[in-house]
Amino acid sequence: MLPSSGCARALVAAAFLLFHSSCQSGGTPPTPRERALREFEGAYPLEARSLGTVRTFDLVAEPTEVPLIDGHALRVWAYNGQVPGPRLRIRLGETLRVRFTNRLPQETTIHWHGVRLPNAMDGVPHATQPPVQPGETFVYEFTPKDAGTFWFHPHVRSSEQVERGLYGVLIVEDAKPPPYSRDVVWVIDDWLLDETRQLFPRFNTRHDLAHDGRWGNVITVNGRTDEVLRVRPGERVRLRLLNASNGRVVTPDFSGLQAKLIAVDGMYLRAPIEPSGFELAPGNRVDIDLTFNQLSAAPLRIFERFFARQPNHLADIVLEGEPVDTPDFGSPARARVPVWREGLEVPEHHAFRLNARGGGPLGIEWTIDGKAFAGHSHAHEPGLTLRQGQFYRLRYVNESARLHPIHLHGMFFRLLARNGVPVEESFFRDTVLVHGREEVDIALVPTDVGSWMMHCHILEHAEAGMMTMIDVEKE
Ligand code: C2O
Ligand code: CU
Repeated sequence: MLPSSGCARALVAAAFLLFHSSCQSGGTPPTPRERALREFEGAYPLEARSLGTVRTFDLVAEPTEVPLIDGHALRVWAYNGQVPGPRLRIRLGETLRVRFTNRLPQETTIHWHGVRLPNAMDGVPHATQPPVQPGETFVYEFTPKDAGTFWFHPHVRSSEQVERGLYGVLIVEDAKPPPYSRDVVWVIDDWLLDETRQLFPRFNTRHDLAHDGRWGNVITVNGRTDEVLRVRPGERVRLRLLNASNGRVVTPDFSGLQAKLIAVDGMYLRAPIEPSGFELAPGNRVDIDLTFNQLSAAPLRIFERFFARQPNHLADIVLEGEPVDTPDFGSPARARVPVWREGLEVPEHHAFRLNARGGGPLGIEWTIDGKAFAGHSHAHEPGLTLRQGQFYRLRYVNESARLHPIHLHGMFFRLLARNGVPVEESFFRDTVLVHGREEVDIALVPTDVGSWMMHCHILEHAEAGMMTMIDVEKE
């Protein structure tokens, strides 16, 4: 049933048609839910606007050897022989067509993390497509609705396939990209190498399952431990960061630099803010607007400080060459992001309980509401059914002591509160880190019909059951 009042129905229509409703003239003041829905109007496009241009890429997944970490031959699985995989860059309104071939020794799919796309292109095995068998091809084709920094990775045995090197960045440029001096991508990954300096060959170990997944002993940026960004004084850089690790959370530190956070998980903020302190969990992306205006001989060393006492070096920035004029333009971070002050007044629609127990094929199962996802090949009951165009408040109750970066496919959400304390983030997310024993409230308006996954992006937790489906039904 739709909400009882005709007013709410009109608001749903308003949210979808982007015209203004005249609800308030009826006399009864709008409910918190109605106000929240009205505030959502125009936050992001409901439909893709296709320009009719198709950009075609070929992707092949196969085992290979790359001179990766410190230049020695590392046996990986890679897209087109590269780790990170090729950077796919299109413009908003263009259609992406990827002709994918699987040359791995096991089945796979490609999931387009963060992209609002037709459900059939989402790359979830058995739910949205049959897995792509070794030797087979599959064509992914869609027109993204949003510009931003996205990424792609397998959704089959992802704790193994992503760890082996299968991931890449998809950049959807704005229809009119702001004139940065450069657009730079840093893909952060965390590798567990053994004493032969090859990938530790056992996946989903008891240790990893009982902790925060597989944390490694080498952190790379763009596959290197010595990544250097060389810029000229005066340049203004758009730096896009992705955390492609299985389990490690990083907190990049840009203090001391002229740096602003302009986008999270692909989507622009309401206004730019200080970037330091952002916990970049597996799956998260941030875009940083950096201006280099002083000459500095020494390289700027960039660290991450998730554990304050154990900082990790990520990469260096070197200023060199002739100074240039700094491009002068307003920050692109000026999105319509609802404040949703009334969000916490809306009754919570569902509280997901996150926990673990012994048992299952791996010895430990990670559960959502007491259920471990029984493997993609089994028919699934949706963990939750939502209706398109409605406002929902959802809660995650972490009954465990471990980290759970919860990721939703096919929709963005806004963090409302942590442990009941309101958090006013001026941006949407597709992944939020839920800390041990924490309770997190989020709000969202599903815009896209389909069967969408919700799972922990610590890939070992996901493999051990911490996945479910959210069905979004047509309004
Ligand atoms: Cu990057 Cu289902 O996830
Ligand atoms: Cu988890």
